[in-house]
Amino acid sequence: MCYAIPGKIEAFDNKMVVVDYFGEKKKAYNELDGLSIGDYIYAQGGYAIAKIPEDEAKSILAVWKETFFELQEVDLKLSRLDLNQESVSGEFLRILDKASEGKKLSPDELLILIKEKNKPALELLFKTANFLRQKHHKNSCCVHGIIEISNYCRCNCDYCGIAKGNKNITRYRLTCDQILEAARQAIQEHGFKALVLQSGQDAGYSIEELAEIIRKIKVNWPALIFISFGEVGLDNLKILYDAGARGLLLRFETSNPKLYKQVTAGKDLSSRIAHLKKAYELGYMVITGGLIGLPQQNEEDLLNDILLTKELHAQMYSFGPFIMHPQTPLAKHPSPEVETVLKVIAISRIIDAANAKILVTTALETLNPDARREALLSGANSVMLNVTPLEYRSLYNIYPARAHESESIEAQINDAIGLLMSLGRSPTDLSV
Ligand code: 5AD
Repeated sequence: MCYAIPGKIEAFDNKMVVVDYFGEKKKAYNELDGLSIGDYIYAQGGYAIAKIPEDEAKSILAVWKETFFELQEVDLKLSRLDLNQESVSGEFLRILDKASEGKKLSPDELLILIKEKNKPALELLFKTANFLRQKHHKNSCCVHGIIEISNYCRCNCDYCGIAKGNKNITRYRLTCDQILEAARQAIQEHGFKALVLQSGQDAGYSIEELAEIIRKIKVNWPALIFISFGEVGLDNLKILYDAGARGLLLRFETSNPKLYKQVTAGKDLSSRIAHLKKAYELGYMVITGGLIGLPQQNEEDLLNDILLTKELHAQMYSFGPFIMHPQTPLAKHPSPEVETVLKVIAISRIIDAANAKILVTTALETLNPDARREALLSGANSVMLNVTPLEYRSLYNIYPARAHESESIEAQINDAIGLLMSLGRSPTDLSV
């Protein structure tokens, strides 16, 4: 079983269902036929995913009942905020106080936050973000799975290990049957309710093949499907949406058009942004964000990245550190500090407190295994587990030695659930 609990339908409200979780009411979009009041469902990412037989739901809920309230208490304790700190400047405390009250911070105030280097001040910034996460989202948390279906890519980005120009890696492309089997395992055996299908750009599948894969997954094993195939073309976004994809994961990498051009071998940022805007128009959930620590990227750039993520209506923020790959032009460029990534996470939470889901990325965990915990305590509330078949996982080496590269799915689930439980997080993931 993965990390989700059944909810009971209390009411219908247009395209939405109101779901009860031990007295807490949440809403989810419903595209399932034949649901009635009193039915039990799984929901994820704000969507009803599947109906569950009453007996099964009741037995799962019986196990969760006590734990549910215990977890809420643990989370509440861990997210208490006390802004009385003598070692932190009055100005910094005033900004955090304003943020904790939900007031909008000015660009100058945001810059002060992102430029801060003093440890006790940063601790308070992270705590403020965690406080806001708890205030708006309670202890809810989502766990998605990702299948990396191919590492072929026609782009030649300076930072990326699977760039076309890297002739020293083994390329792979899963067959449609392999993808379906990996999806089946993740959804049916491990209980994932949301799956990302990812590849380099131009994976060698036709758009019809990709659409067919999505349709087959949706028919056989209900789940929320996110696509992450790079820039597939605006018309193709519609084809994949019609096939059943409901989320797009596509980072804009950097909001600075000059820097984007420089690190992507001359590509235009506007094309990426057009995809993200089109996806939103089509009704996709948008997951986007950027790379932290690109050459010449400064704090203003990072702040603009966060603001652009919000402007693009991201439901989920995905910011990760750059990690050098030895066979790329940026082989000698250092990674950013973990703290810089935590700052971006915390400020994302402050800027988009009530709406954002914020992901802890694998790259951050690769910098430091403890960083997942730290990020979850700095405003993040989402993790993604790698469910790519083990024999291919290490070949998707956008950077070397990725965290969880050789861990079984079971081990990753146990690890993630253990951590989430210790932080009092629980698996209700309904955002709207
Ligand atoms: N370090 C960290 N992240 C990287 N990505 C690509 N190369 C690297 C790297 N060297 C990220 C990009 C891309 C995502 C799939 O992987 O942000 O959007």
